[in-house]
Amino acid sequence: MQFHKDISLKPYNTFGLEAKTRLYTEVNSIKELQETLKTEEAKSNPLLILGGGSNILLTQDFDGLTIKNTITGKTIVEETDDFVLIKVGAGEVWHHFVTYAIEQNWGGTENLSLIPGTVGAAPMQNIGAYGIEIKEIFESLEAVNIETGEIETFNKEQCQFGYRESVFKRNLKGKYIIAHVTFKLSKKDHQLHIEYGAIKSMLEELKIKSPTIQDVSQAVISIRQSKLPDPKEIGNSGSFFKNPTITNIDFESLKVDYPNIPGYELPDNEVKVPAGWLIEQAGWKGYTNGNIGVHKKQALVLVNYGGGNGNDIWALAQEIQASVVKKFGIELHPEVNII
Ligand code: EPU
Repeated sequence: MQFHKDISLKPYNTFGLEAKTRLYTEVNSIKELQETLKTEEAKSNPLLILGGGSNILLTQDFDGLTIKNTITGKTIVEETDDFVLIKVGAGEVWHHFVTYAIEQNWGGTENLSLIPGTVGAAPMQNIGAYGIEIKEIFESLEAVNIETGEIETFNKEQCQFGYRESVFKRNLKGKYIIAHVTFKLSKKDHQLHIEYGAIKSMLEELKIKSPTIQDVSQAVISIRQSKLPDPKEIGNSGSFFKNPTITNIDFESLKVDYPNIPGYELPDNEVKVPAGWLIEQAGWKGYTNGNIGVHKKQALVLVNYGGGNGNDIWALAQEIQASVVKKFGIELHPEVNII
C-alpha cells in the first residue's frame, strides 16, 4: 500500500471543491483495507472514508488519512428462478451496477437509476428516489471494524434503515468501513413502483402503457436529467438538506397562510414537507453569489459553478436554514456530511 502526501481532494468530491488531505491511499480489496488499518498512519490519524464523494461538503483541508474505497467486483451468491442474490464491491459506481442489473433484466434498482456515488455509500444513508429506498432490495453487507480489523456481516434489521439514515450514520458512526453489499433482485414478475407523480407523467409523455424495468429506468434518468445538475458539469451533491418532518397540527396551521404547501402524510400524525418547496418560497431558487448558488431547477440542490469555496457554500446553507426558520418555523437539517 502507498500513502500519498498532500493530495488534492478536488477530483474525489462531486461538489468539485478544492481541499487537501495530508495523507491519501486507495484500497482495492478487503485484505488491503485490513492491512491499511493496521498501519501507524491509520492508527494515529483521523480517517476520512471516501466512496464517490457525492455526499460531502469539504470546508477545510483534511488533517488526516483519506482512504478511498475502490473494492470492485460482482458475484452471484444465490440464484433461483425468481430471484438473484448479488454481492457487489463497495467501490463500484452505483449507476454502473444499476445499468448492469437492468441489462440482465433483474428488477429492483430501476427507480434508483443515476444516483451519484458508490455501492458502499448507498446503505450508509439508505439512498432513495421516486418512492423506493435501497432497504427494499438490501439483503446484507460486509463491513470491516476499524478498531479490530475484523469482517462483520449486517442484515437489514441490524442496519436500522430510516429516511436517509442507517446505524452507520448514528450509533456506529466512524466505526466501520463497508466493503461489500448484497442485494436481492427479482428475475421475473418485477414489482414496478410507478405511482410517483413525475414517473407517471414521464411514462405518459413517452406513451408507454405497460412499462418494463428498462422503461422505468429510462423515465427516472430523463426526470433526473431534467431537474438535477450533472456533477461533471456543475459541482453539487444532490439534495443538500433532508425533507423535514413536522406535526399534523403545524402543517394545518401553515396551510392557513400557504394553502399550496405540499406535504406527504406519515404515520404518527406527522407530515413530510419538501424542503425544495420551502427554500423556493423563501426566495432562494436560482440565487447566485459569485461562483456558488442554488440550482435554478431544484432549490434543494446547492451548486458550485467552478472555483467555489466550501465555507461559502456552508455559509449559504446556514443563511437558507435561518430564512426557512424565520418564514415557516421549520428547521432544515443537512443531508450531506460537512467536513
Ligand atoms: N419543489 C419545489 N421547488 C423546488 C424543488 C421542489 O416547489 O425547487 C417541490 C416539487 O414541486 C414537489 C416537491 O417539492 O412538489 C418534491 O420535489 P421532488 O420530486 O423534486 O423531490 P424532493 O423531495 O425535492 C427527494 C429526494 C431526492 C430524490 C427525489 C425524487 C430528499 C432530500 N431528496 O427530493 O433525492 O431524487 O425526492 O424521489 O429526500 C438526494 O437525496 O440527493 C436526492 C436527489
